[in-house]
Amino acid sequence: MTRPGDIIYLDNNATTPVDPAVVEEMLPYLTDFYGNPSSVYRFGAQVARALDTARERVAGLLGCEPREIVFTSCGTESDNAALASALAMDPDRQHIVTTTVEHSAVKNHAEALAKRGHEVTWLPVDAHGQLDLAQLEKAIRPDTAIVSIMWANNETGVLFPIEEIAAIVRKKGALFHTDAVQAVGKIPIALGADSQINFLSVSGHKLHCPKGIGVLYVNRRTRFQPSFIGGGQESGKRAGTENIASIVALGKASEIAAAQMEHENTAVRGLRDDFEGRVLETIPRAQVNGDPLERLPNTTSISFPGIDSEAVLLLLDREGICCSAGSACTTGSLHPSHVLKAMGFSNDRARASLRFSFSRFNTPGDVERALEVLPPVIEKLRAMTMSG
Ligand SMILES: Cc1ncc(COP(=O)(O)O)c(C=O)c1O
Repeated sequence: MTRPGDIIYLDNNATTPVDPAVVEEMLPYLTDFYGNPSSVYRFGAQVARALDTARERVAGLLGCEPREIVFTSCGTESDNAALASALAMDPDRQHIVTTTVEHSAVKNHAEALAKRGHEVTWLPVDAHGQLDLAQLEKAIRPDTAIVSIMWANNETGVLFPIEEIAAIVRKKGALFHTDAVQAVGKIPIALGADSQINFLSVSGHKLHCPKGIGVLYVNRRTRFQPSFIGGGQESGKRAGTENIASIVALGKASEIAAAQMEHENTAVRGLRDDFEGRVLETIPRAQVNGDPLERLPNTTSISFPGIDSEAVLLLLDREGICCSAGSACTTGSLHPSHVLKAMGFSNDRARASLRFSFSRFNTPGDVERALEVLPPVIEKLRAMTMSG
């Protein structure tokens, strides 16, 4: 087994190490406090209080009300539930608008819905990975049920102007969902009383919480049709006995993320910028993919013309360096990233791209080690390609 001490983990958009403070907070709910929060006796009621606290903490991170938080099993479930609810509301509104750069949790779902007869409009992006908002406005029709546009791209880190987009969608009378799985905890989000966002998805394992827990924010004024129907948990919005230990964990992770937001924007951004700047200086023809400014502070996607990213991943892995050749969910397939392709990149440039994503658990030493290993690996592979 590869042990954590042996690796340099630069793949925090795929998943993050669990914060030890989060583990400490959740453990009692796996051991001593196993009661069901719906039970009437005190042993259950104290667990219900932990559930309330977690809900308040997540709401604190998102700037919304606790009653707008619905705990789910993951970001994918939240994304699926938002689209499904919107489509269930009105038989005359069955059109969906989304983008060509969504995570597969939205993209593949929309493709499946298209196969079942729903019309889907796919908004393109430019070479920086940005949308044309006039085109978005034109795409929304009287029969549009929902517009689903991610807040931050998992591969490039590119940020969309979500508040502005939400206002356009509201003006046109459709519902708006944003997959904020990569944004939450990395940039400030404030879903105040006048928020025009109807639904927003969160995933715990992207913010130093264990896997298997997510949130769907459902705006208090938005009608919701649940995908899971049963015991009435989560105010009837998501039935199933609550995953209390993970919910407690997400509450703690959210509290820490809110307190660490400044650090994310300074120290984590500093590591990313230092790494990126020195890669561009030392590796000829390296180029950053995506909007250089409107970007998450922790992510850099870089193309290295003349190499195949899968080969780089293997050589980096031998040195204990973890990064990604695109979204983790599509790694292993030979398809070039749909995000980079949507930005107009050639297959070669898309295949020559790597994503490095940092977190508060990375150190300047990680950057030094990665910079010792990466340039000779790229040089070696380029030399092999040339001689081959
Ligand atoms: C943008 C985005 N949306 C959704 C997901 C899916 O989240 P989960 O793994 O919790 O299902 C991911 C995970 O990589 C993601 O990056």
